[in-house]
Amino acid sequence: MLACDLIVRRAHVVDGTGRDPEQLDVAVSNGRIATIATSLNASARTEIDAEGLTLAPGFIDTHTHDDTSVIEAPEMLPKISQGVTTVIVGNCGISAAPVRLKPEQQNSTPPDPMNLLGGAELFRYPTFRAYAEAVSASKPAVNVAALVGHTALRNNHMDRLDREANPSEIASMRADLQEALDAGAIGLSTGLAYYNANAASSNEVLQLAALLASAQAVYTTHMRTETEAILDAMHEAFEVGSKSRVPVIVSHLKCAGIDNWGRAEEVLHTLDTARTYQTIACDCYPYAAGSSTLDLKQVDPRVEITITWSTPHPEASGQSLAQIAEAWSLTQFEAARKLQPAGAIYHSISEIDMRRILAHPATMIGSDGLPHDPHPHPRLWGTFPRVLGRYAREEKLFSLPQAIHKMTGLPAQRFHLKERGQVREGFHADLVLFNPETILDTATFTDPIRPSQGIHSVWVNGTLGYTVAGATGTRAGRFLARSITAS
Ligand code: ZN
Ligand code: CU
Repeated sequence: MLACDLIVRRAHVVDGTGRDPEQLDVAVSNGRIATIATSLNASARTEIDAEGLTLAPGFIDTHTHDDTSVIEAPEMLPKISQGVTTVIVGNCGISAAPVRLKPEQQNSTPPDPMNLLGGAELFRYPTFRAYAEAVSASKPAVNVAALVGHTALRNNHMDRLDREANPSEIASMRADLQEALDAGAIGLSTGLAYYNANAASSNEVLQLAALLASAQAVYTTHMRTETEAILDAMHEAFEVGSKSRVPVIVSHLKCAGIDNWGRAEEVLHTLDTARTYQTIACDCYPYAAGSSTLDLKQVDPRVEITITWSTPHPEASGQSLAQIAEAWSLTQFEAARKLQPAGAIYHSISEIDMRRILAHPATMIGSDGLPHDPHPHPRLWGTFPRVLGRYAREEKLFSLPQAIHKMTGLPAQRFHLKERGQVREGFHADLVLFNPETILDTATFTDPIRPSQGIHSVWVNGTLGYTVAGATGTRAGRFLARSITAS
């Protein structure tokens, strides 16, 4: 009789491909899924009767800013408590590596929005290899795959960021990017909407993206705009993909700003047209509000804005900008200027648009959670159970297998994460067992730091990392270096 490390019996297995659930026994050995059968004649050190529960591949958070958290807070509670077993870091043009802050930046805040990843003291990885080694040494609770941020590269080589890079700066940025790709980076990200990258031309991005194809890496982008000119920004992103022959992943696709509400259909039509020629995906978080650094361009009295942090006014955390402005007898714009540098939550997305985008077959789930915020957007703790509980079970926006596919099989395929994202024999045993009747987010805008309900057990590389009783204390995540696969 076969002896294994773990057998989960009689679970409803949702395998990550989108297929319907099936009641099966799943055996795990040496960190891998060893056998899957209707009734397994084997024994294991640990056996779980999972009748009534759903067993799925561990969730992949496709859009995170956990770059420094996986090292500084390797328990990764906000994520593993949701059933997440892998995080993609380095999004929106910002990454912890390769970064060499300028002397004057070392004692102040890193350039916006790199400050979303933490203070200057957390940027300690001059090369991507140094970062990969630090992640491995910190033994995070979840697996980590990393993109290289374009803004981070700009800051390494440019004296100022409000202009286009010149040819010699681009050559230096390319050398940094190549080092990172050689050390296992999975792709390049841009954050062209942010001031510190906005002056970069498409040509600057193209010259960097040219290195991606031979490495089978991807291009992800927080596009140049998500408001009026969103279609132009999409075309720019798609052109980078088609000219460089790399897959494109549009970050947190949304129609931002009240004047753009109702445009999701048009945006998705543009996406679908391009998808007939090239590989494109996008990620989305399941909330009608965004969050980032406080951007004066987004201050609009019609939009409810909550301040999440402020360096000169830490007491503003959790307060509404409207109230602060009133107390100070200033306009919201003036108050916002006084609060900077700061972070904010903007209730500037239409729920209807968000649902359309979330339900689209090219859409993956990404939290975009900001772990350094003292009063974070609830997406940090609630994204995945919210998609499963609220949008699949309650609202029936999509089926449970479709929802799971958006957070497992699809991202594994799009980001080329080898042998992950499916409950399949031979694959790594990243698994989550949950109650499909009760799974739900509990984090709210007023009370955002709360673990979700309904998660029974989470295994990372075959090791139990989280249960109903909380983290087990055994952290089994790995740094996932890009692997080139024959396609
Ligand atoms: Zn972004
Ligand atoms: Cu982001």
